[in-house]
Amino acid sequence: MSLPRKVKIVEVSPRDGLQNEAKQISAEIKIELINQLSETGLPVIEVTSFVSPRWIPQLADNREVFQGITKKEGVSYPVLIPNLKGLEAAMAAGVKEIAVFTTPSETFSQRNTNCSVAESLKRIKEVVEIAKSNDIQVRAYLSCVLGCPYEGEMDAKKVADLAQQLLQLGCYEISLGDTIGVGTPLKTKRLLEVISQQSNLSQFAVHFHDTYGQALVNIYAALEMGIQTIDSSVAGIGGCPYAEGAAGNVATEDVVYLLQGLNIETGIDLEKLVTVGQFISKELGRLPQSKVNMALAHIIVQSKASISLANGK
Ligand code: HMG
Ligand code: MG
Repeated sequence: MSLPRKVKIVEVSPRDGLQNEAKQISAEIKIELINQLSETGLPVIEVTSFVSPRWIPQLADNREVFQGITKKEGVSYPVLIPNLKGLEAAMAAGVKEIAVFTTPSETFSQRNTNCSVAESLKRIKEVVEIAKSNDIQVRAYLSCVLGCPYEGEMDAKKVADLAQQLLQLGCYEISLGDTIGVGTPLKTKRLLEVISQQSNLSQFAVHFHDTYGQALVNIYAALEMGIQTIDSSVAGIGGCPYAEGAAGNVATEDVVYLLQGLNIETGIDLEKLVTVGQFISKELGRLPQSKVNMALAHIIVQSKASISLANGK
């Protein structure tokens, strides 16, 4: 099995990260976070979601944040959309790329979007049709693919069938969400194996939460299977409000360090990323959930101090 030469990282901290933080972060700080992330070399930054503010009050400032950020050339700035109402609001704000979401779990679908899986597919179909006729690219998430907090194990064939339907509807990429972080390398490989029997894995991304500390080994397993797109969140912030106990997403710093060690290109400046992770962690009032961040931040501080000493400051 050969590893990919290049990997695309989709940064989800401003959306998946901040949607689940108890501390309310101001629009100004969110804009600063995204602007700093844009300078690290990340190709995709999920900015916010246009969901019901009653369901996710943390992201009620979606329009202000989306319109307030500096859009860097070559970087995509998708937003998460649950229905037509969200799409209309996103289009009015000038959004050019969206992500839709569903799940193989009936119970999770009800808890997360107040509808059945079939109804969610109907909503997605309507959203994709209008989005595409307005030149808006659509990515899709499948949540709970390796386990659901309410229904337990998920059937890999069911996940593969749903993914295929989403691709047929016109989504260009499917992100496989291990929403509660229960996956292991073996389960990851088995799922990808089943999916690869009916779809091309080049259209799939992996999205791991780190509840059991398995995210990085799962990513390695996914890379071995040919996955070339990875979702992650700076400083490991995040979770899912409708999946109690789910830890944050795998930290982008940890993923980039792993990929650098494997000689896999990402185009990302790890030192800049560490600084962003420190910035948002400080705003959240805690330490980064990333060993790589903690270790490198220490080295960066020490080397800056020795440069100042050498300059007589
Ligand atoms: P509902 O309550 O059934 O909606 O929620 P409704 O259609 O009955 O409308 C109720 C009210 O909400 C109405 O307002 C609507 O206008 C309004 P009222 O007339 O009562 O004043 N409304 C909206 N407002 C703003 N934006 C909208 C919108 N839609 C309706 N888009 C709904 C259904 C889908 C809206 C709701 O359940 C919802 O917003 N759910 C989203 C929950 C969410 O964001 N979860 C986290 C994201 S998924 C995730 O994190 C997993 C992922 O990271 C991958 C992984 O880790 O696995 C992607
Ligand atoms: Mg998530």
